Amino acid sequence: MKLIVRPCARPLTGRRQPPGDKSISHRLAILGGLAAGQSTITGYLQSADTLATLAAIEQLGARVEREQDEIRIHGGLGPIERASLDLGNSGTGVRLLAGALAGRSELFGAELVLTGDASLSSRPMARIIDPLDSMGAEISARDGRLPLRIRPRPLRAVRYRPKMASAQVKSAVLLAGLVAEGETVLVEPGPSRDHTERLLPALGVDVQRVGDEIRLRGGQALSGGRFHVPGDLSSAAFLLAAGLLVPGSDIEVDNVGLNPSRDGVLRIFAAMQGRVDRAAASTVGDEPVGQLRARGSTLRGVSIPPDWVPLAIDEFPIVMALAAAADGTTRISGAEELRVKESDRLAVMCRQLLRLGVDLEETPDGALIHGGTVEGGVVDSCGDHRIAMSLAVLGLVARGPVTICNAQWIRTSYPGFADDLAALGAELEWQEE
Ligand code: S3P
Repeated sequence: MKLIVRPCARPLTGRRQPPGDKSISHRLAILGGLAAGQSTITGYLQSADTLATLAAIEQLGARVEREQDEIRIHGGLGPIERASLDLGNSGTGVRLLAGALAGRSELFGAELVLTGDASLSSRPMARIIDPLDSMGAEISARDGRLPLRIRPRPLRAVRYRPKMASAQVKSAVLLAGLVAEGETVLVEPGPSRDHTERLLPALGVDVQRVGDEIRLRGGQALSGGRFHVPGDLSSAAFLLAAGLLVPGSDIEVDNVGLNPSRDGVLRIFAAMQGRVDRAAASTVGDEPVGQLRARGSTLRGVSIPPDWVPLAIDEFPIVMALAAAADGTTRISGAEELRVKESDRLAVMCRQLLRLGVDLEETPDGALIHGGTVEGGVVDSCGDHRIAMSLAVLGLVARGPVTICNAQWIRTSYPGFADDLAALGAELEWQEE
């Protein structure tokens, strides 16, 4: 499907709620599956990625009931001899599940195979296979890529320092550590989103953070509970960016997760002189939540400090779109991890922006984007949900309509994106390719 976005003739106004947080939804599906008893989850993200993780948990033996906005997981997996689980496009789903399942030899007898779509099958898995191997796991992969073949084995705890600041790697090791013998210590090379560490205590697991170390004893039981998933800042970022870009706009986004390990995009918006205000802060579970208001702003290019990159890792496509329409040059560096996301986001985003007449240079670890006028044109999501939404937002201020081909990938994380943007006053329509 293609999405056609017309330049905005008037300011965007109104109030929306972003869909549930993708990272927290994946974690709750997995933890709810592992836990004893029932887990009741409201606000669970109903998108392709998170539904794939939920389906995998069901396939592994958990019973899942769905009722409007409530999902009930009756925990307890296995016993199952073998299963093949298709995680679609989801890096978080596949990497966290690999960690969670690698040591569950009492539940799964022979082999668990984890597969995914073409994009996921090209993404690196050695980053989780290596630490899990050192814990005694038996995982085989072709060239460090999917499919992963896991023969669950008893694990021993390790002390591990990943090469990159990655919440997926950290979480895979901690989830494996739940059943490892001894105390698993994960040493963080830099900050990354900490939803796993925040959630585990709510299921009865003792996790300690001391400096850059996270410690967890193996053999602790998990018990289900009631959970609410806050709105996803990574999805809200598209609405906020639209509010910043379209002159005279004034929009509010409610119930947004504001976890400080995730809020780098708000720092970047502020550094670009985007007017975003926070209000009504509260907490949901152990996660800070609030309301954000974005107003039309004269955006300026900015040099983004490399240490902000992990805190805004999923927001670079939308930051690059904003940079294209800002005054002056935006410099992104230290962002080579973007090359192994749902697409090579540096290359794909640069290629699409060039099609819209943007002046830029791609570098090995980032880009230099010289902001200015953006032309209308035809671009492609290249199978990446966040590229599709970023280009749609940029279309609001282009000189002519922007057509985004393969925009159906938006369903990966934010199926209601086009409806939400339309409700704020944007003009956009879906067409068959
Ligand atoms: C995620 C971690 C990040 C992020 C991804 C979600 C998570 O990946 O890009 O969208 O939920 O743990 P990395 O751990 O590879 O940085």
